[in-house]
Amino acid sequence: MEEQHITQEMKEAAARAAVDSLVCSGMKLGLGTGSTAVHVIRRVGELLARGKLKDIRAFATSFQSEIECEKLGIPVFPLNSRELSGGLDLTIDGADEVDPRSRLIKGGGGALLIEKIAAYASASYAIVVDESKLVENLGVRFPVPVEVIPEARVTAALALEKLGAQAALREAVRKAGPVVTDHGNLILDIRFAAPQDPAFLEAELNRIPGVVENGFFTGPPGRVLVPRVYISRADGSIEVRGN
Ligand code: A5P
Repeated sequence: MEEQHITQEMKEAAARAAVDSLVCSGMKLGLGTGSTAVHVIRRVGELLARGKLKDIRAFATSFQSEIECEKLGIPVFPLNSRELSGGLDLTIDGADEVDPRSRLIKGGGGALLIEKIAAYASASYAIVVDESKLVENLGVRFPVPVEVIPEARVTAALALEKLGAQAALREAVRKAGPVVTDHGNLILDIRFAAPQDPAFLEAELNRIPGVVENGFFTGPPGRVLVPRVYISRADGSIEVRGN
């Protein structure tokens, strides 16, 4: 219980550090999903309410983020809207794993599809995590989420197994049956016995028919994604990696 309390404080500390140093008035701002990213949204809401920030046009990466923005009065627009025109100045999000090159696994909250669209549409990208998310190799401890259309549940699982992964359909907790994403899809959580090349797999997994997106975040084709990473440590310090 005590440990959980400390972790919440750590999540909040990383989120506040990122918002306070990166978010400026007038920004088109992508807002991530999850128990750390929610603190980003709350901090932005607080600064808007205090008049320290103005004219933020936000993009929410999930129903969770959208509802949080609604509660706080943060104006949210579709990415296709005239206000955002498909581009963001900055996105701040959480992550499930961060490797030494700041490559990521995301999608523990099931929002990987829109999170990746936002990340790859952003001029700057920042990640907020506590130190428990740091790993040497991605995908060994935390499974990589793969979002598939419902019709491809079995065929995609077989194709993933051919690539050497073990695939498990993600089950819902307070609903009978599988998790259904914000876009009506299913999630196969895959594990590899040994470390893999995340950039290769990010592209390769999406070649399987029926796969919509996967949780490796290494960058769009031809561009390496190097987020600025805010890491909160148990001793109360914040480490910042990247530009
Ligand atoms: C949501 O789909 C995810 O990508 C989250 O950003 C990630 O799972 C981290 O979530 P927590 O901050 O809740 O650990």
